Amino acid sequence: MPEPEAAAVDDPQPPPPVAEPEPEPAPVPPAVTSGAGTPVVLLHAFPLDGRMWAPQAEALAGSYQVIVPDLRGFGAAREQAVEEAGMDLLADDVARLLDDRGLDRVILGGLSMGGYVALAFVRRHRDRLGGLLLLDTKAGADTEHARADRLAMAERVLAEGTGFLPEATLPRVLGKTSLEERPELVERVTALVREQDPRAIAGAQRGMAARPDSADVLAAVAVPTLVVVGEEDTITGPEVGRELAAAIPDARFLLVERAGHLSSLERPDVVNEALLDFLAPIWV
Ligand code: MLT
Repeated sequence: MPEPEAAAVDDPQPPPPVAEPEPEPAPVPPAVTSGAGTPVVLLHAFPLDGRMWAPQAEALAGSYQVIVPDLRGFGAAREQAVEEAGMDLLADDVARLLDDRGLDRVILGGLSMGGYVALAFVRRHRDRLGGLLLLDTKAGADTEHARADRLAMAERVLAEGTGFLPEATLPRVLGKTSLEERPELVERVTALVREQDPRAIAGAQRGMAARPDSADVLAAVAVPTLVVVGEEDTITGPEVGRELAAAIPDARFLLVERAGHLSSLERPDVVNEALLDFLAPIWV
């Protein structure tokens, strides 16, 4: 009997290639723009968002184009939160915002965390700077202890939400005078802190914990710079500000009386006057 024909076995075909997903394009930070003229970009502090610059946007908008982004995860950038919002990543976000707006050069300002980002911007995008505003900030990296505190806060906020944050941060970010005499400001800052997404808080804390020392970039700042510090700032106090200004070739220093770490919010009258005076001769 003839052998029954073996059932034909299809040649095994290699599986069709799986298309690699396109990498997500890096996002442009959402930003609020007021006024027209020389562009001034203002970077907010932690754990706030761009709304902290409302008094400056209002005061400068008569003569300048004031651009106030929300950094990763904060405010309107909630959907852009990342696990670790490093200062270089945030500086590159700002550069992308400038590209998006067709701006080659700007005056860049930042308060505290915003200042850390501004210094990262100096390192990475120096040719796009026409002037620099550094408020209540510093060039140094964290101590081991500060780093551990940040990472602990990152874990806690993800587990518990932001309810504990105002109590943990307000006594540090507002000066003694504001805490005692400016209840409406205390209320406004409390609300701003509470509204932030826990992922933004955690991402920024991890990013700040990982930031390098930026002292090396200070001598290379080749644009007019204004350094501002609240006299009651207990985080980056007057001495830190004076040292920062002394290390930058063309820097002015302003001490803001009766203001703490959030000097621009605590004494907008004084800070706005200084900004207008500083910015007047600068063209970009
Ligand atoms: C800020 O105001 O942005 C923070 O104090 C920055 C920091 O935690 O170092």
